[in-house]
Amino acid sequence: KVLVVDFGAQYAQLIARRVREAAVYSEIVSSKIDADAILAQRPAAIILSGGPSSVYEEGAPQLDPRLLEAGIPVLGICYGFQAMAQALGGTVNRTGQREYGRTPLSIHDGGCLLGSFPNTLNVWMSHGDSVSRAPKGFQVLARTAGAPVAAFEDVSRKLAGVQWHPEVLHSQWGQQVLEHFLFDIARLTPDWTPANLVTETVDAVRTQVGDRHVLCALSGGVDSAVAAALMQRAIGSQLTCVFVDHGLLREGEAEQVKEDFVAATGVDLVVADERERFLGALAGVTDPEEKRKIIGREFIRTFEAAARELAGERGIDFLVQGTLYPDVVESGGGEGAANIKSHHNVGGLPDDLQFTLIEPLRRMFKDEVRAVGLELGLPEEIVWRHPFPGPGLAIRIIGEVTEDRLTTLRQADAIARHELAEARLEREIWQFPVVLLADVRSVGVQGDGRTYGHPIVLRPVVSDDAMTADWARLPYDVLEKISSRITNECVEVNRVVVDITSKPPGTIEWE
Ligand code: XMP
Repeated sequence: KVLVVDFGAQYAQLIARRVREAAVYSEIVSSKIDADAILAQRPAAIILSGGPSSVYEEGAPQLDPRLLEAGIPVLGICYGFQAMAQALGGTVNRTGQREYGRTPLSIHDGGCLLGSFPNTLNVWMSHGDSVSRAPKGFQVLARTAGAPVAAFEDVSRKLAGVQWHPEVLHSQWGQQVLEHFLFDIARLTPDWTPANLVTETVDAVRTQVGDRHVLCALSGGVDSAVAAALMQRAIGSQLTCVFVDHGLLREGEAEQVKEDFVAATGVDLVVADERERFLGALAGVTDPEEKRKIIGREFIRTFEAAARELAGERGIDFLVQGTLYPDVVESGGGEGAANIKSHHNVGGLPDDLQFTLIEPLRRMFKDEVRAVGLELGLPEEIVWRHPFPGPGLAIRIIGEVTEDRLTTLRQADAIARHELAEARLEREIWQFPVVLLADVRSVGVQGDGRTYGHPIVLRPVVSDDAMTADWARLPYDVLEKISSRITNECVEVNRVVVDITSKPPGTIEWE
């Protein structure tokens, strides 16, 4: 595997993802970890990430020269590049001149790392200091206005570095920089595929579980579906899945879980039809937080009842948790670190139900989860589903949740999703909430008559991780089609508006 040594960059995860996209397995380790511990993992190559600091700053993360002397191929990026230059006897200048953003780069000697690239390209920069003299034995490959040495390599020692960020999409030929390093300098073999990921995970799960029993909650989302499908592949008859149908899903989603998912995987699925229970509990409630609390509470109750029943029947030893690799990295990396968060997620389960958590997705990025889902034969509609909040449509009806309102919203939402798919824009959009303003009315005219109906809000957004988001610029003709269909087909709706607020200041959901 390739280890990305994280010098505190927001980019470290991105580097690991790009390496995996090149079909080489990659993990992130903190730069605070001792060099011996890093070398003990026997990395096939090391990538030193960028970081926020100057190498001259007090307390700047240190690069242990042993990492460069172990005969392991090393690529330095941005801060990692400067730290490498300094550790090997080159010169890093405190120019005080910042280069930030898209920057023209001229290549005077492509060498191995930049071989076959055009002579000039735009790359993404973010640095203050810059390398003015490469260490002995290194060949200088390129420069920018602010960085006289913007890339270097010493192929005989398998060391190379770039000042810019090849991992970001704004850097032209970025992925090729990583690939030249991985394949031409480090001479690795691209053998990391979704199929391998499935095999390795299945083996690991079998070892962990033995002949014991596993319980898995299905939500209708991608992560839980892929986790369940993986568990099914690994341990089949020792797995039981529980799906709580709270009646707040979108059109066709519950059926997809109950029918298509079961058909594709053959899981043993227990469906708890609790639609009335949830609707009853939500009667008269308009406050968003109150809605969330009620749904969370009822969900736990139902799930707990199902778990107890199963525990009585066959005993349950493990509970599946859909923790992804970014959660693992963010909660400190090490084994079990994500459990703090996981426990929180399943929080509310009673103490007398003793489960060990099992996390089959903990090595995967979101895009790998999707690839694994496809590999396992899950339908595209499930694998490419947009994220959807646990409380479902209840937090997309502004006002009290009633059966009629759910029907209206479900219809409008189905139209919006259908037209988005028809326009082949589904995968460009992160999420597309459709919101019913049930407590607002406006005057309209339909046919010959005056109407006094409710508005529907379209909230298409683009995002990478839902932490920030921008409103999506959907083509007018798509918006027009959605608007005219919704006002024609959904009773009580006489107006469609588009939300053009980014996050922040708005959130993605309306409640
Ligand atoms: P906001 O609205 O805070 O949403 O910008 C960020 C992301 O989280 C989802 N979301 C939820 N997911 N339970 C969930 O499982 C919730 O209560 C919840 N509220 C928001 C939202 O859809 C978006 O992807």
